Amino acid sequence: MVARRVANLANLGLATFAAGAGVTAQCEPRRPLSAAEARRVVELFDRMMLDEEYGDIHLYDLREDEEHFVEALGGDATYGELSFDLLEWFLAQTEVQPEDVLCDLGSGSGRALIYLALRTGLPAVGVELSPTRHQHAEILRTLAQPFLREEVELVQGDLQEMHPFGKHASVVLFANKLFSEEFSASALRVLPRIRALLTLKPLPGELPTKTAELPTSWSFKQPVWLYLRDAE
Ligand SMILES: C[S@@+](CC[C@H](N)C(=O)[O-])C[C@H]1O[C@@H](n2cnc3c(N)ncnc32)[C@H](O)[C@@H]1O
Repeated sequence: MVARRVANLANLGLATFAAGAGVTAQCEPRRPLSAAEARRVVELFDRMMLDEEYGDIHLYDLREDEEHFVEALGGDATYGELSFDLLEWFLAQTEVQPEDVLCDLGSGSGRALIYLALRTGLPAVGVELSPTRHQHAEILRTLAQPFLREEVELVQGDLQEMHPFGKHASVVLFANKLFSEEFSASALRVLPRIRALLTLKPLPGELPTKTAELPTSWSFKQPVWLYLRDAE
């Protein structure tokens, strides 16, 4: 049911896109978008996927069996999103380089990851265990594709497992507010090349480069920890 609705909306989105914004897609080479442009692209396509009656409740309110499926691996299925302002702060601190690879551990709807990919023009990878959230992210990526410069890979799987992208991920978001220390540690162990990491909890034994209080979907002032490490 959700799949059919999402597929219909995706078709609608593609048709609208083809009719309206296709011109931009023909401008090569694609460039990183400004903050205002990236926000507009994500918000426009995201709105196309909203259910008129229920909005994006399917992202927040998983079916019980899917919630258990996510939590069986030790994480937490509760949903929430980092804001564009928070992502802009992260970018301003990080100064991304052409060789960087973006990553969102627990990428949910894909909004944060796709926003960063649009802003930087860098390749990006997201891992999300929930099939519903992963599917939403895949459709958002399809819609945003004409504006993306590099590949955005979306993995439906466990963020504690080593995926091929893990070797390359260097600029990483980790919204680990509700994850235990052990779970967070096993997730970060599979990413050996992190040089910039944003978390929602401090990492034991590592001094953050900076902390701040920034908006998320659940709070205007969510504490965040930024770790900038020397590149290998
Ligand atoms: C707080 S949400 C963050 C969404 C997105 N990163 C953002 O900030 O906008 C955390 C996400 O982690 C996902 N998650 C929980 N356990 C996971 C696991 N073992 N592997 C992959 N994703 C997981 C949840 O389904 C949820 O979508």
